[in-house]
Amino acid sequence: MAIVAAVALAASVVVVAVASTSAAGLPSYTNGYQKWPKLNKKPTRGTPLGRGAHNGLKNVYASKKKVGSKYPNGTVIVKSIAQAGDKPALPSQVAVMRKTNGKWRYIEYSLSGSRYTVLAQGALCQSCHAMAKANDFVFTKR
Ligand code: HEC
Repeated sequence: MAIVAAVALAASVVVVAVASTSAAGLPSYTNGYQKWPKLNKKPTRGTPLGRGAHNGLKNVYASKKKVGSKYPNGTVIVKSIAQAGDKPALPSQVAVMRKTNGKWRYIEYSLSGSRYTVLAQGALCQSCHAMAKANDFVFTKR
């Protein structure tokens, strides 16, 4: 009996480990983002503020809709940033905003091989997104 329990426990630990990150190294809360409603009508290009952030072919996806002027807690916004030659499912960069306790957490990943690793996060992102405060720190509007 003890052996069966240990094997079952080991199996469930493996399942948890897989569930916490997607196959490509992104956090599980971004899973399926390419099927979420888009905030942009068409893919965009370029660096609108001319400061080099997010350069590439971009789409922005939101897991939840704004309620009034704010996105609700738990909202995840993903921006895919693709370069020529990227596979559609694996854009070179993925920038993520996630709202918890009324605050956005920012983190951006870049693809190396077939896995995403953290490129940048935190205050750097927040300082620029402060310019979009009037739209709950989200630049892209529908
Ligand atoms: C220099 C300014 C600047 C910095 C720094 C910056 N961003 Fe952005 N971000 C923008 C602009 C402008 C847009 C919208 C236009 C675009 O996509 O080019 C945007 C869009 C986004 C979006 C899509 C939602 C939205 O606001 O439109 C996400 C997600 C995002 N950024 C995450 C991040 C993360 C994570 C970081 C830090 C690693 C970061 N950003 C750093 C300027 C910035």
